[in-house]
Amino acid sequence: MSGLADRPATTDETAAALTAIYNWNYDSEIDQVRTLYANALERQWIAVRDLDWERGIDRAAFARTFSLGGFPVDKTDFWKNLDPDLKWEVSRRSSAFLLSNFLHGEQGALMVAAQMVSAVPHMDGKFYAATQTVDEARHVEVFAAYIKLLDDVYPIAPSLKKVLDATIGTGSWLEKAVGMQMVVEGLALHVFRDMRNATEEPLLKQLLTYVSRDEARHCGYGVKYLSAMVGSLSDRERAGLEDFAFEAARLLVDSRTGGSMRLSMLEIWKEAGLDPKSVFEQLARERDKIDPEMQRTNAAGPVRGFIIPSLKTVGLFSERLEGHFRSMFEANFGERAKTMAFADALPENLETWVEGAA
Ligand SMILES: [Fe+2]
Ligand SMILES: [Fe+2]
Repeated sequence: MSGLADRPATTDETAAALTAIYNWNYDSEIDQVRTLYANALERQWIAVRDLDWERGIDRAAFARTFSLGGFPVDKTDFWKNLDPDLKWEVSRRSSAFLLSNFLHGEQGALMVAAQMVSAVPHMDGKFYAATQTVDEARHVEVFAAYIKLLDDVYPIAPSLKKVLDATIGTGSWLEKAVGMQMVVEGLALHVFRDMRNATEEPLLKQLLTYVSRDEARHCGYGVKYLSAMVGSLSDRERAGLEDFAFEAARLLVDSRTGGSMRLSMLEIWKEAGLDPKSVFEQLARERDKIDPEMQRTNAAGPVRGFIIPSLKTVGLFSERLEGHFRSMFEANFGERAKTMAFADALPENLETWVEGAA
């Protein structure tokens, strides 16, 4: 075994902050959070035992149902007619790149969940956060193992790193809850569910099914806990939380669609042997296939379809915040953002929703 000291440095630091709160009352105070803790204990799973790693990756199925982070490239003739080896090269590398950011996000979630054990004031909240800490460790474990079957781990997107740093670095547990449980988890759950429904690769589908069930609880924790707390906050505290949520959502949208993301993806295509310019030309000719598919599968996207209704549910979506979101969408989509619909309510039961079709 080679010594740990001989390996290149793989660590990076950020300042963490929290105030640890003891609670001498051991009775349950927020029943819904206590119930979620009981559910979490029932639904634990073991990555090396419960997923079928022996099977490896079904390469043909993987490449056949590969979508580029919501972009349905697999529905085009361009993709269908691509040489199978090239298809596998492009899809395995691009997916490793996207999944690497999931993996890094999971590491952030692992650290924040552990912080929540100390930082939240209610015993129910501490118990629950302890289960989430184990869940997130398992998620880091499974994403790392799956990426290993595809390619190397790619570095974290700078704007995702900013969201994680801000959430780990704030001393306010309410901001941690908003940043992690509502925004990061909300986006993750939505994206994992989309990918789970789209892929026909059996191991990835199985992995995402297990992970999404956990994430549904994590979002539930944010929604239930914050719903119980927001009513007792001052206007100023509420506005501060809204701003924190907005900034996190803005950065996450950027980490998925921003310039650095696009450039890295083009670089990956080139390395795999695809010329980005000719790809765009060919895809432009097939807009009639791409546009309706995008509308069908991604009608509202994670922010409008999930993060915003979560914020509405807990009472953190003032007209002021709605204005911020509309301006953000306007910058991305132009005039039509003015009349874009925002979903009002979350699915009734998140755990059954994650396993439903799109
Ligand atoms: Fe997770
Ligand atoms: Fe999570």
